[in-house]
Amino acid sequence: MIVTVTDPCRPLPIDFDAARPLEVEVGCGKGRFLTGRAAAHPDHDFLGIERMLGRVHSFDEKCRRLKISNAHVLRLEALYTFWYLLPAHGVQTVYVFFPDPWPKRKHHSHRLFGPLFLRALWKRLVVGGRLEFATDHEEYFRFVTEECFPPYERPADTVPQPVYRRVEPMARGPEAWTEFETRFRGQGLPIFSAAWEARPGTDYELPPLTVAPEDEPREGIVRRIGKRFLQEDPA
Ligand SMILES: C[S@@+](CC[C@H](N)C(=O)[O-])C[C@H]1O[C@@H](n2cnc3c(N)ncnc32)[C@H](O)[C@@H]1O
Repeated sequence: MIVTVTDPCRPLPIDFDAARPLEVEVGCGKGRFLTGRAAAHPDHDFLGIERMLGRVHSFDEKCRRLKISNAHVLRLEALYTFWYLLPAHGVQTVYVFFPDPWPKRKHHSHRLFGPLFLRALWKRLVVGGRLEFATDHEEYFRFVTEECFPPYERPADTVPQPVYRRVEPMARGPEAWTEFETRFRGQGLPIFSAAWEARPGTDYELPPLTVAPEDEPREGIVRRIGKRFLQEDPA
C-alpha cells in the first residue's frame, strides 16, 4: 500500500503495532527484497522508502499481486523520513542496499550516509535494532565503514551521540537479493556487506532539520517537499 503523507512534519499516518517488529528499507526500488521478506514474515511490518514514483508503483503492484498486506511504501526522501516521520525507537531493522554511491568528490554531500543520517537512524532504531548495508562500490563501502560510523565509546562528547556496534551482516541467499544485486552478482561483481547494532545511549531530540541547499542529500527534495511532494500525491 502506498502511504500518503499529508503533513511532512508529523509521524507517518500508519498505526504501527508496537508488538510487530517494523523493518524499513531505504531506496527499496521495485521491492524485490522487501516484498519477499514481507511474504516470509507475516508477523512483521515493512516500510519501503523510495524516491522514484515508477518504482513505488511497481512495489505496490507487487504487493497486490502477491496479496501482501504487511508492507507499505512511501515516496519520500530517506533522510527526511528518518528525521521526522518514523516512530522514535520503533524500528527493528533498517536495510540500505546499493544506495547511490555518488562517486565524484564534489557530489559526496549527496550521499545518504553521514552524521545527519546516523543521528536520525539511531533515534529511530530500537536498542539492539540493526542496520544492514550492502554495496558493489568499494570506495563507498570504505567510506561508510571507516569514516561514517563513530567509534563505540565517545566519552569526551558533551552532546549525546548515536552509539553503534559493528556486527556480522545477515546471510542472504538469492531469494533475498535486491534487483540491483541480482544484476551485479550476475555480472560477477564483488558485493560488500556490513551491519551495525544500535547500542544503549543517552537519548536526544532531533532539532528542526536545517540543511544548506548545497548540502541537501538529494537534489533539492528536502527544500521542495512542502510545495511539490504534496502536490504529487502518488496515490
Ligand atoms: C541503486 S538503486 C538500488 C535499488 C535497490 N535497493 C536495489 O538494490 O535494487 C538506489 C535506489 O534508491 C533510491 N534512492 C536513492 N536515494 C534516495 C533517497 N535519499 N531517498 C529515497 N530513495 C532514494 C533510488 O531512487 C533508487 O531506486
